[in-house]
Amino acid sequence: MNAGEGQHSYVKNSSYQRGVVDVAKPIIEEEIAKKLDVENLSSFHLADYGCSTGHNSFPAIQIIIEAITKKIEQTSSIKVPEFFVFFNDNITNDFNTLFRSGSPEDHYYVIGLPGSFHNRLLPKSFLHFGYSSWSLQWLTEVPKELSDCKSPAWNKGAIFYSGDKKDKVCEAYLNQYAKDLGSFLDARAQELVIGGMLALLIPAAPTFWDPQTEYTLISDLNLMGSCLVDMVNKGIIDEGKVDEFNLPYYFATPEQLKGIIENNNQYSIERLEIINNPGKHTLPSVTGRAAFFRAVHEKLLGDHFGSGIIEELFDRYMKKLSASSLFMNSANDKSLVTLIVLKLKQD
Ligand SMILES: C[S@@+](CC[C@H](N)C(=O)[O-])C[C@H]1O[C@@H](n2cnc3c(N)ncnc32)[C@H](O)[C@@H]1O
Repeated sequence: MNAGEGQHSYVKNSSYQRGVVDVAKPIIEEEIAKKLDVENLSSFHLADYGCSTGHNSFPAIQIIIEAITKKIEQTSSIKVPEFFVFFNDNITNDFNTLFRSGSPEDHYYVIGLPGSFHNRLLPKSFLHFGYSSWSLQWLTEVPKELSDCKSPAWNKGAIFYSGDKKDKVCEAYLNQYAKDLGSFLDARAQELVIGGMLALLIPAAPTFWDPQTEYTLISDLNLMGSCLVDMVNKGIIDEGKVDEFNLPYYFATPEQLKGIIENNNQYSIERLEIINNPGKHTLPSVTGRAAFFRAVHEKLLGDHFGSGIIEELFDRYMKKLSASSLFMNSANDKSLVTLIVLKLKQD
């Protein structure tokens, strides 16, 4: 994510992601009220996995803490405990901006937790509630076969999979995703106390959509790929550089997600809601959409293709969005977010 608080930063360009937190709020509050065990607590440990620079993280944490406090005050004889909040992201994250995003009025301890959420990050049986939003689509690595010209999954001339689920490229992505989400679930199962809960907001793809009349985040990423191919054709980028590059994400369908969690077998699925992405209404212009994609991808693309291509790439991307009757109407956006609430099973 773009660091800092400048024009192209994640802080200034993440209202799309924020729109989902507002819709998830009553669902998370209800699940906490009904299902979270709040007896025998002297302190409460909460973590946000993949918090970025905090602009969306702090409001989400506030919602969770208020819901827990309300539950304790209404149903328990214990004193409201002290809250310790662990803000996790990769070590390269801009934690300074994160810490500046907090408010002195926040009544909890703020702790930075650097490292990959695919690994154990907290002591055993320590965590009471884990949260993650817009982060679990990230893979630990791009499947190797995508850049192997001898593999049926060679993804020549593209940087992502298309919506076709039968495609070998998509299959390679899904296999990597299942492995990575499995590691996340295993690590959290170690960290959570028995009965501890996770609320995960995961960008998703619908099982079917018509690419002629509807688009999803996958379509955006392919449009960005087509701009790179145009730059190859103009001699600005080397063809081989595009062939060897693939984006390290996967957008699971809600059914795929459910299947992976059930196979993992360490959690009960307390709630699964498909949120028809409300964030799209917070991106009224193509400029806003291009800025959102730039804030998320600039570093990744700059590291591979060189920072010199970024301005032209996003300029081309914005022009393609503006010229597309499909993308110009946000009612065609079929991107989804799956909200899944899990509880660690007792052995
Ligand atoms: C799109 S941002 C989401 C930020 C915030 N949760 C929100 O809702 O706006 C995704 C974040 O996940 C982080 N991330 C990706 N893979 C990660 C990993 N393996 N461990 C920790 N953080 C990771 C990225 O660095 C990035 O900050």
